[in-house]
Amino acid sequence: MDSFLIRGGSRLKGRIEISGSKNSALPIMAACLMAEGRTTLKGVPRLSDIDSMNKLLGELGCHIFRHEPGTLTSGGMGPSLNGPLDITVTDEHNCEARYDIVKTMRASICVLGPLLAKRKRAVVSIPGGCAIGDRPVDLHVRGLQKLGATFHTEGGNIVGEVNGRLKGCRMYLGGAQGPTVLGTINVMSAAALAEGETTIVGAACEPEVSDCANMLNKMGAKITGHGTPEIRIEGVERLVGVEHRVIPDRIETGTFIMAAAITNGELELKHCNLDHLLAVEDRLQEVGVKITRENGTIYVSSSRRLQPIEMTTQPYPGFPTDLQAQLMALLCLADGISVITERIFPDRFLHVGELNRMGARIRKEGPTAIIQGVKELNGAPVMASDLRASAALVMAAMVAKGTTRIDRVYHIDRGYEKIEQKLMSVGADIERVSETGRTSVTVAA
Ligand code: EPU
Repeated sequence: MDSFLIRGGSRLKGRIEISGSKNSALPIMAACLMAEGRTTLKGVPRLSDIDSMNKLLGELGCHIFRHEPGTLTSGGMGPSLNGPLDITVTDEHNCEARYDIVKTMRASICVLGPLLAKRKRAVVSIPGGCAIGDRPVDLHVRGLQKLGATFHTEGGNIVGEVNGRLKGCRMYLGGAQGPTVLGTINVMSAAALAEGETTIVGAACEPEVSDCANMLNKMGAKITGHGTPEIRIEGVERLVGVEHRVIPDRIETGTFIMAAAITNGELELKHCNLDHLLAVEDRLQEVGVKITRENGTIYVSSSRRLQPIEMTTQPYPGFPTDLQAQLMALLCLADGISVITERIFPDRFLHVGELNRMGARIRKEGPTAIIQGVKELNGAPVMASDLRASAALVMAAMVAKGTTRIDRVYHIDRGYEKIEQKLMSVGADIERVSETGRTSVTVAA
């Protein structure tokens, strides 16, 4: 297992290119199971979660081919960090997502709707708990049941079947914690091939839902209202392969904005969409972070003394839970007391203990964290617990006095493409250490 050794005190300065969105790419790749012919996806980041989805789709009969960067023109759709990814379904025999893959990546649940709609059967291992809390899939199952699928559990798997074609209906898909992002995408995707019209009320409005809807529409689906709580889908008989570029990663963008702010640095973030981060921009302006934009580029700088704020995570367009840990790291150094409430995953606070090991003063009360700003953080050995908590620790380490060792950085490799190369190219001092010895890292050009 790799670790990061981060020497604090660098001020980030320079330009970073934002990758395509992991959380958009994963369900979009799963939706390709429904298309006839080849789909070419651009902007898919190189991450271990994407490798897991490639493996899963491979087992489900897809032929996957990753082009080298620059071997295909970007067709006016913007530049390519990576080569495009081709996905072609060549064999529809297997319908099973095995536990071995599902346990490494919960987004495997995204194949449930597409498999049921296209192959009439799906066997998906039930995802267990994870570091950010219980993550049930009951809403996915309920929505697909309303479309006519039947389910039972068998040996730790959800087994779903459809007799004939799924049938469109009007349904409510919200849960106790609000809408579900991947649940909405699963049901919307399946409804694209259902008979008749489906209306999803209480749908998630996240940009990743719209991105998937846009690709499905290019494939021949008839989806309107995505990006709002009411999505309408007129079922079609077939979908065909297309070319699609996934949206920029709004969580990576937000993380780098806050990394610039915590180091009192100045960053230029290329190829991102600030419209997907309006709630984040709003909170950060109050903290004292200066954010301006020009076309697809964001310029970030910040005042020396950060102001404390209150923030509650909410479904889109509210402040995303996936940036809660990073904001907490930033507020550790604010001039006063901040309050963060987590409404999406109320137990998503494993970073609190690790930040406190670095000298932060954070007290947790139920789903709320009270952060007393301190003058400085100190390097310490800490442990990454989940993807976004790891990013928060990297941010804290870059500003801490001395050296921080972050263990288990495989979490960060799941969702941040080339993070240490990107941060080192703007002045961070990060070294990746493997169990077998030190690895020197080449700074990205
Ligand atoms: N929920 C249910 N039942 C369900 C599904 C969800 O009760 O069947 C609850 C969850 O427990 C949670 C709330 O609904 O309290 C919202 O969860 P949601 O279903 O929206 O989460 P998700 O779709 O499984 C995606 C992202 C997460 C991100 C959440 C919330 C992907 C691959 N994952 O998960 O991203 O935190 O939406 O925005 O898109 C991450 O990237 O680090 C990450 C965890």
